[in-house]
Amino acid sequence: MEHSIESYIKNLVRDVIGQNLCGLQIQSDRQTYVIANWKMNKNLNETAEFFQKINSSHDVSVVICPPTQLLYPAHLLIKQSGKPIGLGGQNVHWVDKGAYTGETSGNMLKGVGCEYVIIGHSERRQYSFEDDELVNKKALHAIKSGLIPIICIGETLGQKNSMQTEQVLSKQLFGALKDIDSSQFILAYEPVWAIGTGQSATAELAQETHAYIRSVLKQILGQKAESISILYGGSANDSNAADYSAMPDIDGVLVGGASLNAHVFDAIINVFAKGEQNS
Ligand code: PGA
Repeated sequence: MEHSIESYIKNLVRDVIGQNLCGLQIQSDRQTYVIANWKMNKNLNETAEFFQKINSSHDVSVVICPPTQLLYPAHLLIKQSGKPIGLGGQNVHWVDKGAYTGETSGNMLKGVGCEYVIIGHSERRQYSFEDDELVNKKALHAIKSGLIPIICIGETLGQKNSMQTEQVLSKQLFGALKDIDSSQFILAYEPVWAIGTGQSATAELAQETHAYIRSVLKQILGQKAESISILYGGSANDSNAADYSAMPDIDGVLVGGASLNAHVFDAIINVFAKGEQNS
């Protein structure tokens, strides 16, 4: 992608002083992602149909996370299509191999063409009782295996209503990122109350929360925090994508329900691709 002289200078200044200068708002050159979390949906035929229909884009990083048993066919379908699409798992174990029935290691995901893996999704926190310590072990294992973890955090409705959002997110971040000094990960802010409910967070609320998340990331990682992509997730769709894409701290979306239809997902990709072309 070509960079304007203005963005070149801003990046240079940011690299040198790592801060805003004389009130000049320095935008980061963070990667924008549009990521599909199919959860436990689609069979083989539906997967083949999806990759036939989807157009994708070279302007943003598009990643599809199908269920585990569809990863390898999806990898072959993506290769065959020649479309710019990355592949990710929805979960990973924390050791390379052993007596762990039903589990999948980072090497195994890599072996079937994955570059990414979702870790700590609230549904896994809820149904499989994953806590911050486990999320951290999985994230460390994913990085060691050469995968980019997409680490999910987010507060429940009860926590939001009792004004605990910042406290919850801070605890989740410090827990998940323990001993991680690499900036090779993606964060997804997914308020639990917004997932699958149609009650998406307003872009303004999401922006405010992302800015808070980045301030906590700065405490943990210092200036590296500026380069971490923070995605919004929770009832993101083709109608609200433009609002999110206009926000400075929202670097893409993690999409569940609206990612199952190739045309709808393409529309979301196009919104973020347009945002990149105009920046
Ligand atoms: P949703 O799911 O888009 O269906 O709300 C998002 C997610 O759980 O990642």
